[in-house]
Amino acid sequence: MSLSEKYYGIPESDPDLYASRDIDAIVRRWNSKAARWDSDLENATCHLNHDDAYRGFVELGKRLILDRHRLCSSGCLVDLGCGTGAVLTEFSTLFDKSIGIDISQEMLNVAVSKSIRNTEWRLDDVFEGGWSGRRHAAVLSRGILLSHYGDELARLLIAQTVKALAPGGFALFDFLSGEAPEATKILAPNKTYFCPHWLIDQAKHLGSSGAVVAGNPNARVRYLILKN
Ligand SMILES: C[S@@+](CC[C@H](N)C(=O)[O-])C[C@H]1O[C@@H](n2cnc3c(N)ncnc32)[C@H](O)[C@@H]1O
Repeated sequence: MSLSEKYYGIPESDPDLYASRDIDAIVRRWNSKAARWDSDLENATCHLNHDDAYRGFVELGKRLILDRHRLCSSGCLVDLGCGTGAVLTEFSTLFDKSIGIDISQEMLNVAVSKSIRNTEWRLDDVFEGGWSGRRHAAVLSRGILLSHYGDELARLLIAQTVKALAPGGFALFDFLSGEAPEATKILAPNKTYFCPHWLIDQAKHLGSSGAVVAGNPNARVRYLILKN
């Protein structure tokens, strides 16, 4: 039984689902995960917590914010694919304002119910770029959005993000690493496992003044940091 069936009672996603940008089908998948999402995040044995990857994201994000305390405390944070607001619960107090964007209304309903301070919620497809017209102190995205959507859309999202960062700002995305042991890749089939160097090269090519990959080189989930 796939993890998707085990946890959410739905089959593994079709390999072409994200690349085809069938937004209605993508929304249905995520809506069906919303009710269980927070309890799964709290469950140490859930696949989401494999390798402590989600907690690692939060710790790294907090370090990056501390280095830019002044910019962040007076600036705006954008969370792409914010889901139930788990990331913004951790980070919103460190910014003047936050924006959480998701395509799933069910996920956003849970997020809104948390009354997270100074946060605006938007039901939108992040690849449409509606959020990228303004300069933000930080852009975060946890939940391997890049690996769901593959090379071409990863490049698009990186380009939008670089354009949307204020001077001194940063972005943090987690992704599935192609350098992870093969045996761990069965946890999430039909996803894009990126070569970290490829992501760094793309980010630089797309205008990021500094791009690095952090995290354990053997880990399944690693972190792309973009700087402006
Ligand atoms: C793996 S979940 C992560 C949720 C949250 N960031 C967290 O860490 O708990 C991915 C989220 O991205 C959202 N998502 C997927 N594709 C999206 C898109 N094109 N635009 C906006 N949100 C999207 C899903 O609805 C889902 O809530």
